[in-house]
Amino acid sequence: MTGRNEAEGQDALGDWRRTHGCGELGPGHEGQEVTLMGWVHRVRDHGGVRFVDVRDRTGLVQVVFHPEREPAFGRAAGLRAEFVVGLKGRVALRPSGLENLALPTGRIEVHADQLRVLAPAQPAPVAVDEGAQVEEELRLKYRYLDLRRPSKLRALDIRQKSTAAVREYLSSQGFWEVDTPYLTRSTPEGARDYLVPSRNSPGMFYALAQSPQLFKQLLMVAGVDRYFQIVRCFRDEDLRADRQPEFTQVDLELSFGAEEDVMAVTEGLMAHLFRRVLGREVRPPFPRLTYAQAMDQYGTDKPDLRFGMTVFDLGPVLGDAGVEVFRRAVAEGGVIRGLKVEGGAAKLSRSKLDELSRLAGGSGLGGLSWLSPQGGPSSHLARFLDAETLAAVARAGAGGPGDLFLVAAGPRPQVSAAMGRVRLEVARLLDLIPDGPLEFLWVVEFPLLEPDPDRGGFRAVHHPFTAPRPEDLQWLQSDPLRVRARGYDLVLNGVELGSGSVRNHLRGVQEQVFLALGLSPEEQEAQFGFLLEAMDYGAPPHAGIALGFDRIVMLLAGEHSLREVIAFPKTATAACLVSRAPARVSPRQLEELGLELRRPTQAGAAPAGGGGPGPG
Ligand code: AMO
Repeated sequence: MTGRNEAEGQDALGDWRRTHGCGELGPGHEGQEVTLMGWVHRVRDHGGVRFVDVRDRTGLVQVVFHPEREPAFGRAAGLRAEFVVGLKGRVALRPSGLENLALPTGRIEVHADQLRVLAPAQPAPVAVDEGAQVEEELRLKYRYLDLRRPSKLRALDIRQKSTAAVREYLSSQGFWEVDTPYLTRSTPEGARDYLVPSRNSPGMFYALAQSPQLFKQLLMVAGVDRYFQIVRCFRDEDLRADRQPEFTQVDLELSFGAEEDVMAVTEGLMAHLFRRVLGREVRPPFPRLTYAQAMDQYGTDKPDLRFGMTVFDLGPVLGDAGVEVFRRAVAEGGVIRGLKVEGGAAKLSRSKLDELSRLAGGSGLGGLSWLSPQGGPSSHLARFLDAETLAAVARAGAGGPGDLFLVAAGPRPQVSAAMGRVRLEVARLLDLIPDGPLEFLWVVEFPLLEPDPDRGGFRAVHHPFTAPRPEDLQWLQSDPLRVRARGYDLVLNGVELGSGSVRNHLRGVQEQVFLALGLSPEEQEAQFGFLLEAMDYGAPPHAGIALGFDRIVMLLAGEHSLREVIAFPKTATAACLVSRAPARVSPRQLEELGLELRRPTQAGAAPAGGGGPGPG
């Protein structure tokens, strides 16, 4: 950099201080002298006058440089996009007819008297432009440039407002914010742990906390009574749009209370959040569905209630209608379920129906059948059904002319899963999901246990500390799948926002649950001895919940991926492209930890993002 482009040096700021944010200026500031600082967004030369749009996190303003105001005018000629500048000038109304009403500051401009270049900038590898189509990998590598875009800064602003609102509400309800350790033992939230080797105890490992579950329960034993924490959790699981390996929970727990108390606090928190951040009214209490209802009617434990199209039973109509697949499904203890697609006879093509059938196949069914009782596409099975049966199908689904019915038969869990996927896909295809509504609900009465396909036996649906419903306790050892849990999930627009439960506070019950999970008394002692012992010293009845904070912010910001609302998110392979983590470490570091790599990374064959030895 030479001449006029050169920054003023390390002390470019001198005694200049901002008087306003760029986006804060309006006609009310007319005539005022202002000092602004920010990034050059765009430079335009217009017949002797130079226009420079300057941007900071509050917005963008047009600055005008006139030839008679040297040296500012001359200096402006050297400005390029993303230079960091400071300027002093006077706010003026734009000449009538030249206002830009698309821009919040579009009625005014700033006539500059002085300009300082605070830092020059190379051409940015990622355009700081809302419209620019940039590959995600590049955006994540240069995340600090990507974040300069107003929509990204807005997401962080919403996050900040949400954090403040959570603290404000929960503090007002008597909750204390208490930190719990990140370096801990593994807790069974169902994912793989991130392990951290211990230098002091070679061969031993910490696990990064998957959640503060056990510590928050111990805080109840300690008498904290009402606890919350906005807390990072670490889970080494396969990533999706709504999952990150490190994510944030609003975690809370209360003593001397149960389901209704936690639900009321959570509903109050949601209402407060949506009011504070978006100015939107949310009206508790939220509706409730049992797990069984949710699965039967929506095919999922996180139903999207923004549209109808509920699944209905066709067993009585089709079970003995003379079609072998239907007969067999019922004979084998399965179900036949239908989904009505309004006007579907004309809207769903044969190839779309085949696609939906394949989607159902992904849930372990042979596929789907479809029927248009009053004319339209029908799969070959329809040939075996008489007119009366077809009319009965339409009646069962409250169908009218032009409606199409999708039918699935088989074991109940597979049919539910298939119908859940098909329902969402049809809604997407036919654009049935409105953007505006906020459809909260609670899903309750989850089963306590489910079969564990990996290890055999059972695993906890939620986690092993969830209390069984007292009336179901009798079946815990004899018929474990029949036991319902005192758990509840909060769902918004088809996204699981949070999950919680009443906990076992008595050692005897907790031991019975561990036993049903296949943990011998010795294993219980080894893994959870500290929790069981704490229960010997007087644990109050307690209950809690954890809300996925990133997911809440994602919905508040109207985004579809967690990556949009996390400042430095990980990629699908859990890499941080900014810092290039994970990275190799030096042999000395490994030695200190008493570790040896079985398959040392080849020199030069860098892991994701490359990089030599990581920071020590
Ligand atoms: P759970 O494991 O259901 O419960 O987690 C609670 C909520 O955290 C969010 N969440 C995630 N968000 C982003 N990325 C992830 N990988 C991820 N995993 C979970 C979800 C979920 O509903 N200790 C219990 C809570 C309790 O019982 O109090 C727990 O962690 O929104």
